[in-house]
Amino acid sequence: MTTSGAIQKRSLGHTGIEVTPIGLGVMQFSGSRGIFRLMMRDLSQEQMNVIVKTALESGINWFDTAEMYGSGRSEQGLANALKAAGKQDDEVVVATKWSPLLRTAANIPQTIDDRIRFLSGYTIDLYMVHQPWGFSSPEAEMDAMADLVKAGKIRSVGVSNFNAEQMRRAHAALAKRGLPLAVNQVQYNLLHRKIETNGVLEAAKELGVTIVAWSPLASGLLTGKFHKNLEMLSQAPFGRRMRLRRSIQRSRPLVEALEELAAEYDATPAQVALSWLVNAHGETVVAIPGASKAHHAEQSAGAMKLRLSDLHTAKLDVLSRAFRS
Ligand SMILES: NC(=O)c1ccc[n+]([C@@H]2O[C@H](COP(=O)([O-])OP(=O)(O)OC[C@H]3O[C@@H](n4cnc5c(N)ncnc54)[C@H](OP(=O)(O)O)[C@@H]3O)[C@@H](O)[C@H]2O)c1
Repeated sequence: MTTSGAIQKRSLGHTGIEVTPIGLGVMQFSGSRGIFRLMMRDLSQEQMNVIVKTALESGINWFDTAEMYGSGRSEQGLANALKAAGKQDDEVVVATKWSPLLRTAANIPQTIDDRIRFLSGYTIDLYMVHQPWGFSSPEAEMDAMADLVKAGKIRSVGVSNFNAEQMRRAHAALAKRGLPLAVNQVQYNLLHRKIETNGVLEAAKELGVTIVAWSPLASGLLTGKFHKNLEMLSQAPFGRRMRLRRSIQRSRPLVEALEELAAEYDATPAQVALSWLVNAHGETVVAIPGASKAHHAEQSAGAMKLRLSDLHTAKLDVLSRAFRS
């Protein structure tokens, strides 16, 4: 593997909050209740502890969770695991999200104490509006978020799944309160490059907002494991199985190229895919791969030591251009 020395941290937007280019997404800690029954399997607290400990030991310094991930289950599992790993509050960065579904901005101050309770002692370094689906405007939501910063309940504000216009409105509303918009967390991976053509990436670069890439491994497809062993698809929970099955043929040439490059760099296809993602646009993009096993987290963190040549970066760009629209 080509190493690029010590892991350089990046600021979340203009907040000065420093994170490693790769964090750990812990939607996998949601449990399998409600809608997650179709997408997740249950993990025990012991399994979560090992995943988080491995991520930390592999160099990851931040974690992404959400209210929506099991109504506090993922947040609580993460906090317990950080505690079990002996981490103090100021040694890690924690991001979580408010769920706007069927709610107005008035719910933001009403539910923040639940988030704080579930994270039991770990500061909310970044608080995001999970989707642009709330009954209130982005301006009203950002105002409520800014109040939480002023009250010392959260450190910074972000959005998730906002389009370019919504993101610009959120940025402007926070600017009026003297705060930066830290991030827009959106789906971004080599098989889903829409933010490059719909104005989101361009706006992020212009406004100095960090893009946090969710599903950076295309739900595991970019690891190549499903292409190698179609049987594995039938073991995935129903919702994911359907989604993955639809993409398997179309993604095969790209996954084969990832495998070739992985062999060349003594890395894995997942590491090649993640390295491309967090380095193709300077420091604008960071990624939060998920893990249901400790070795997933270890491998994802290992991508931070891999630097692809310009030629190989361009090769992956060309091979995945079809996924830009
Ligand atoms: N803001 C939003 O709307 C939003 C939406 C979705 C996700 N997210 C965030 O983004 C994070 C990541 O997204 P994601 O989990 O959907 O997708 P992902 O990171 O693309 O895929 C994660 C899955 O890939 C597989 N995997 C990872 N590393 C592997 C390895 N080295 N070898 C083999 N398999 C590996 C595992 O699948 P198996 O578990 O099947 O083994 C793992 O659960 C989530 O945890 C969450 O924090 C945010």
